[in-house]
Amino acid sequence: MSDVVTLERQGAVAVITVNNPPVNALGIAVRLGLQSSFQAAEADPEVKAIVLVCEGNTFIAGADIKEFGKPPQAPGLPEVVNDIEAGSKPSVAVIHGTALGGGLEVALSCHYRIARKDAKVGLPEVKLGLLPGAGGTQRLPRVVGVEKALDMIVSGAPISATEANELGVVDSLFEGELLAAGLKFAEQLIAEGRGPRRTGERIDKLEGIDNAALVAAKRAEIEKKAPGLFSPKRCISAVEASFTLPLEQGLERERELFGECLTSPQRAALVHAFFTERLASKVDGLAKDTPVRDIKTAGVIGGGTMGVGIAMCFANAGIPVKILEISDSARDQAMQRARDTYGMSVKRGSLTEAALEKRLALISGVTDYADLADVDLVIEAVFEDMGVKQKVFEALDTHCKPGAILASNTSSLDLNQIAAFTKRPGDVVGLHFFSPANVMRLLEVVRGEKTSDDVLATAMAIGKKLKKVAVPVGVCDGFVGNRMVFQYGREAEFLLEEGATPEQVDGALRKFGMAMGALAMRDLSGLDIGLAIRNRQRETLTAEFKLPTVTDKLAAAGMLGQKTGKGFYLYEKGSRTPQPNPELPAILDAASKEQGTERRELSDEYIIERTIYALINEGAKILEEGIAQRASDIDVIYINGYGFPAYQGGPMFYADAVGLDTVYARIREFHEQLGAWWKPAPLLEKLAKEGRKFADL
Ligand code: 3HC
Ligand code: NAI
Repeated sequence: MSDVVTLERQGAVAVITVNNPPVNALGIAVRLGLQSSFQAAEADPEVKAIVLVCEGNTFIAGADIKEFGKPPQAPGLPEVVNDIEAGSKPSVAVIHGTALGGGLEVALSCHYRIARKDAKVGLPEVKLGLLPGAGGTQRLPRVVGVEKALDMIVSGAPISATEANELGVVDSLFEGELLAAGLKFAEQLIAEGRGPRRTGERIDKLEGIDNAALVAAKRAEIEKKAPGLFSPKRCISAVEASFTLPLEQGLERERELFGECLTSPQRAALVHAFFTERLASKVDGLAKDTPVRDIKTAGVIGGGTMGVGIAMCFANAGIPVKILEISDSARDQAMQRARDTYGMSVKRGSLTEAALEKRLALISGVTDYADLADVDLVIEAVFEDMGVKQKVFEALDTHCKPGAILASNTSSLDLNQIAAFTKRPGDVVGLHFFSPANVMRLLEVVRGEKTSDDVLATAMAIGKKLKKVAVPVGVCDGFVGNRMVFQYGREAEFLLEEGATPEQVDGALRKFGMAMGALAMRDLSGLDIGLAIRNRQRETLTAEFKLPTVTDKLAAAGMLGQKTGKGFYLYEKGSRTPQPNPELPAILDAASKEQGTERRELSDEYIIERTIYALINEGAKILEEGIAQRASDIDVIYINGYGFPAYQGGPMFYADAVGLDTVYARIREFHEQLGAWWKPAPLLEKLAKEGRKFADL
């Protein structure tokens, strides 16, 4: 018997308990413990039924992801679950928290399942570049049918206990104590003389339906939606085996496909994304027991695009929030904007009318700073202008109570200067949300020179409470994300002047996996924003740092992107779908001539190198300057804030995968051919020469 799995007998019921914090993952010790406990229960003549239950916050949340990529240790999970299912005594899985991946597979191998009402179950392996590898693709279709199984396995999305009950994934729901519920169910089984009900032996849900057509439709859907992803296609093939092959061969086919996924580079990248997202919340040098201030109420200054979205984040988390605007009408407009945005969710069916009213009741509009005297945290989101920010922070310093945290959502201004407008710079921090703030997961938490430790710890904690991925960053122009995207956007534009079209540049980037092309993204945020930053930079840049001129030309012609219906692309009224802008070719020709560039054919590979390597080189500089604390934090920022494909692991992980020597050599060539912007980052040069990776730092 092991420490993490225990067996005890309560009357005629064997109780097997897993206790492997934090999430009862199925590492080798748990697999061994489960195997030996089920064997012992099987061998004990006094035992008539078996209950499997877990300690802590959750049922088994899956295989131990840390073991992937390491040499396998027997027994493997498939062997363990097959043995459980083959048992001759009825077994019951008692689910609470989340039964995910291998956890649900263990539950499906038990003969019966009950779930606490607030539990969730699912097979999220696809999100890690895998497929359920311990019978999930064969057993789930036998319980819920092929259509629902495809849905669950290919999306990876969990379902609620209520839905699981309706679908027959669990036999009944309970509230309250786990063991009591499990014992009650098991004793009932014994009393009714019900024996094992093996999922693998069931075929009723597989019959009488054109399963082949369901599989074909899912293949077509994935081919359209996610052609570059490796594991969804294999998930579908594995489910196909559930109705085309007998169980044993189906399990073998699943194993084969699982092995293909396990060794794929996408699996490595997605597991990197999983762990580094969690690592990013840990701030180097910040003691674990740093006190955190209590944030019960919040204020937001400025009810524009960002301010309203930020206020909604607080309301969504159940925290009352006041929006301060400059006039009654601006305040009313802000409130209306919040109502309209929630209204769209109601229309889409993702929010109920009652929830809308409940959330709106948490948001109030004010115009007087005295109304913010009692709030615990204020986030400023007024115009990006130092003079305006100065007035706001001086007012906050005067009116907010001692101990209130004063945050700025500035996207590029110097946070240290902003902090200096107050007499309490230790209480000032940057909370850089991304647009739309109520949707985007990323939050850059900007640590100023004087930001105190407890303010930083509180800012990170509030990020989590708002369900954001909070990443600490240092002060510089654009922080991490925008500083890098400037390099990326500039190169995308240069490529236009060298001969590419927006469709080509964006097409290559989308094929690489970016959620959106660089130029479509510029059209979305508005060309005036990038231009303002560029014009500011023009004042300080020396002549060797040339800038492209396409944006200037488009802006001069009144084409500012989606908001004017034209930019790099054309947008028909009411549509966000980019179409070719007929006026663009002439503008590109003029820009090319002005730069003295002969337009030429550019390959997709070249486009990727120019844009993604620009991100990597700047990322290396950011890392060296200590603006980001780890290379993987940069990856987290890019995946969660800029649509970088998680299956490429983020720009720094991608660089490691390509090989830093290769990336460095290419950047040197660009430096020689294209000039000053491409000066290789010293850190990149050093690591490349030493044969090391960003991950080694
Ligand atoms: N293996 C190893 N560690 C895991 C883990 C897993 N499956 N799941 C979570 N952890 C770790 C996290 O890394 C984190 O560690 P840290 O404290 O050192 O940073 C800790 O557990 C807590 O995790 P979260 O911060 O994510 O805690 P939450 O309470 O927010 O969420 C959860 C809990 C919903 C279980 C979430 O962790 C999760 O979604 N985990 C992954 C579930 C999953 O993908 N399971 C399938 C695995 S693949 C598989 O089972 C293959 C099989 O088919 C053969
Ligand atoms: P916006 O122009 O939509 O909204 C600004 C609002 O602030 C307006 O409603 C205005 O009436 C109000 N305001 C101006 N001065 C004020 C004052 N003294 N007191 C109270 N309210 C005042 O601007 P947006 O886009 O919301 O940006 C706000 C801040 O967020 C800026 O610092 C910007 O750099 C930053 N940001 C913007 C992002 C974006 O994508 N729009 C993304 C991340 C940060």
